Amino acid sequence: MAQPCSLLVALSVASFLRPLVYAQYDFESDFNSSSSMLRKRNDKKTSTPMYLALSKEQQGDIRSVDPLKENQEVNRKLQSSTCSGNNMMCGCNDVRQSDYRGRFHVTQSGFQCREWSMAGSYPNQGLDDGPYCRNPNGVASRTWCFVENADVLWDYCNVPMCSTDSSSSSGTSAITSGCINTARYDAIYADIEAIKNSIGNDVDRSHFLGGIVRLVAHDFMDYDATNKNKPFGQDGCLVFDSPMNVGFTNIWCDSCPLKQLYDAKYSDLSRADFWVAAGNAVIYLTSVNNELDLRNTYYWGRATADSCPGSDSRLPTTAGCQSVEGVFLERMGLTWKDAVALLGAHTLGRGNFKFSGHHGTWVPNDKEAQVFDKKYFEELFGRAWSPRAVGTTHQDWTTGSPNSSRPKMMLNTDMCLLFDIDTQKKCCSRTSMFKPNGQSRCESYENVECPMYSRDNPRIEAVKAVMNFLGGSAPNSNNAPFYKAFSIAWFKATTNGLDDLKPLADTC
Ligand code: HEM
Repeated sequence: MAQPCSLLVALSVASFLRPLVYAQYDFESDFNSSSSMLRKRNDKKTSTPMYLALSKEQQGDIRSVDPLKENQEVNRKLQSSTCSGNNMMCGCNDVRQSDYRGRFHVTQSGFQCREWSMAGSYPNQGLDDGPYCRNPNGVASRTWCFVENADVLWDYCNVPMCSTDSSSSSGTSAITSGCINTARYDAIYADIEAIKNSIGNDVDRSHFLGGIVRLVAHDFMDYDATNKNKPFGQDGCLVFDSPMNVGFTNIWCDSCPLKQLYDAKYSDLSRADFWVAAGNAVIYLTSVNNELDLRNTYYWGRATADSCPGSDSRLPTTAGCQSVEGVFLERMGLTWKDAVALLGAHTLGRGNFKFSGHHGTWVPNDKEAQVFDKKYFEELFGRAWSPRAVGTTHQDWTTGSPNSSRPKMMLNTDMCLLFDIDTQKKCCSRTSMFKPNGQSRCESYENVECPMYSRDNPRIEAVKAVMNFLGGSAPNSNNAPFYKAFSIAWFKATTNGLDDLKPLADTC
């Protein structure tokens, strides 16, 4: 058995050897002589060799460069450029993107870039700022980098071209993801799990998890299929300072863990793609036995919009089912079943009086508010909910002690999925429920039971969906009907109006 100290020596030798391979590598001579852009790192045989042969056209890209002339051109461009800068996710075309100093760090095949300091091939080129896509001396036709892979040495990056036209030169207005392969997708799951596990208390953890899912929802709920000029939808864009989007101040902000994760590791992806993947991660991590994995219906290729004025006015209010119909059925083109399934996400997280004014969890406590299951429907169906005033003009619904420090709540938009609260606004959902001391659980609404919808009311479809998601006669632990309907609805909502998305695959 290896002694601990010899193991340590072996490990440090191994980690020393890896950069050495790069230090000895002469990239430019490889460019000028090689007939394959991606070469095997060494002669070792692998079962799936990853040669990507150079096409004739690509070989034409490789040229002998005049580094001096090239650098002058790059410097000129850097000084006057509208398409360079540390945070840029695009590069200029006419200098082969050799001015690119942004943070793209994943190649066209989905490999992570390695630090340039390991290559040693391009000293004094300002490449020591991280493992990013670059094109030193304009040696290649566009940016590239050495990669983190056992078989492949280097690969091109797909850094988008910025426009050099100053009218559209922000470079961040429409960003699409370079490549999201299964490895990157899995990495997002792992990173979200690590942040989740680092949060010490249930309230903050449930808000972190719920906040991510709500972020995705607010992005897709502004879609309008009937507005061809401004459809909005899943574009990574919200009007954050709108009253409709309160509560995201500690989910998506410069010091928020989710945004910090994005900035540090995933800024080469569009925000829209990243948000959906992060939402999927939350749903997977919080579903019972990790049963709901939405990866099979994850598609990527959404563009991020830098601004989306007016999108907030399309978001649903909490007033009632007219709002649900307007957003989900009329503008998003979903069915009642889809809408009800999506609202089942209220099983996660909470409302906060500081944000929306609606305070409490939809499920019995903050622990359960971290589990993505059918509990929301059980609570909606099974408890005695009665109206609660929110300020002087609004109301929601609560159950249990009205003075609880951990209140439970339903919004009008939740209650209306099962009860006709348009016909009867002040009522209790279960007047036949009593506390052990004989008092009604309906508090002052003990005599007015909330009516159900009549059979000919179109909203009866919502009732049927709620009953279906209960999974059979109580008690049961059958989440399958809810999970199935949710994955269909989530897929529709997160891809609405986007025709050219790509499926998740091992390579891009
Ligand atoms: C009629 C549509 C909807 C209305 C009126 C609505 C309303 C609300 C309100 C008022 C809050 C509390 C916000 C706060 O005070 O922080 C909230 C939270 C939440 N919403 Fe919705 N929502 C709707 C649809 C959705 C959809 C479609 C999803 C997901 C698929 C969703 C997921 C969530 C989650 C997970 C939370 C908890 C957030 C947290 O813990 O920070 N909502 N919603």
